[in-house]
Amino acid sequence: MFQIGPYTFDSQVILAPMAGITDRPFRHLCRELGAGLVVSEVVTADSTLWTSRKSQLRLDHQGEAEPIAVQIAGGDAQMMAEAARLNVDNGAQIIDINMGCPAKKVCKKAAGSALLKDEQLVAEILHAVVNAVAVPVTLKFRTGWSLEARNALQVARIAEDAGVSALALHGRTRACAFRGKAEYDTIAAVVQSVAIPVFCNGDIDSPTKAQEVLHYTGAQAVMIGRAAQGRPWIFREIDHYLRTGEHLPEPSLTEIRDILCSHLRELYGFYGEFMGPRIARKHVSWYLQTLTGSKAFRVQFNRIENAEEQHASVQHFFERLITNEEIAA
Ligand SMILES: Cc1cc2nc3c(=O)[nH]c(=O)nc-3n(C[C@H](O)[C@H](O)[C@H](O)COP(=O)(O)O)c2cc1C
Repeated sequence: MFQIGPYTFDSQVILAPMAGITDRPFRHLCRELGAGLVVSEVVTADSTLWTSRKSQLRLDHQGEAEPIAVQIAGGDAQMMAEAARLNVDNGAQIIDINMGCPAKKVCKKAAGSALLKDEQLVAEILHAVVNAVAVPVTLKFRTGWSLEARNALQVARIAEDAGVSALALHGRTRACAFRGKAEYDTIAAVVQSVAIPVFCNGDIDSPTKAQEVLHYTGAQAVMIGRAAQGRPWIFREIDHYLRTGEHLPEPSLTEIRDILCSHLRELYGFYGEFMGPRIARKHVSWYLQTLTGSKAFRVQFNRIENAEEQHASVQHFFERLITNEEIAA
């Protein structure tokens, strides 16, 4: 259990924000499968860009389970404050600030993890956003700008002083990008140095790893990104293991088919007949990557442009696998 402002979360497993992936359908699915908190894809602080279809879809929280957590990115304190206000007006109940991913420059200013180099600016942005909204503000960041400039402890204290309600920390520096292994010593040190909840992020891909990392760092929750791609049931697996010390059985082929087919339906509904099938391709590829015959299937699947045809073809793929499994049993 952990707390962000007035919100209490029963599951210690959080879905990391991932641009292009953690859209409304995926967030819904992860929540249903055991994620305590899910965070939206990043939205630029420059609200003049919000009229694009991409931004409109990112700002759409219709029917979303509460609390709705929206991530914003930008390098200008007043713009970030205004973006936070507008998002709260639009339904956000938690504002998450992105200083964790190598986001592109916004308005010729650094944004995302590039901000970590300038602690004064970090403080200005955090104070401005916290003062602009009545909802809790969280910060997602990396351990520093580079291995030589690892300032997570300073940034964490700045955030706590500014009134930030929780921290999500990815155990890599900006310069590391996704190379090497995430390190958890800095996360453990941050947990020791602040009183607000800290969520541990980076390379957590199994129930046992989640438990080890929670134990090692003393963090309040784990945040899962890439390991949830094509495997959204990882949230219930980790949640169950943390509660009971026992592993849940792997989902059956029938269940994977049902989860994927319902995910596809949500994607078609959300993105429409043209974009839906295109967005679906990467998800299907992740779901199937360990299944027999998926490589050949994907080649022909990626040529399908029609939603109904895509859906039927996934069902057919699974029917064949399920029948083969029954014959073998
Ligand atoms: C495709 C992709 C998109 C991402 N987009 C964002 C984002 O919009 N905001 C953010 O703070 N982090 C973003 N991240 C970083 C993740 O939230 C997370 O910190 C990182 O993937 C490490 O966690 P993992 O090892 O569990 O994947 C992204 C990562 C990936 C792989």
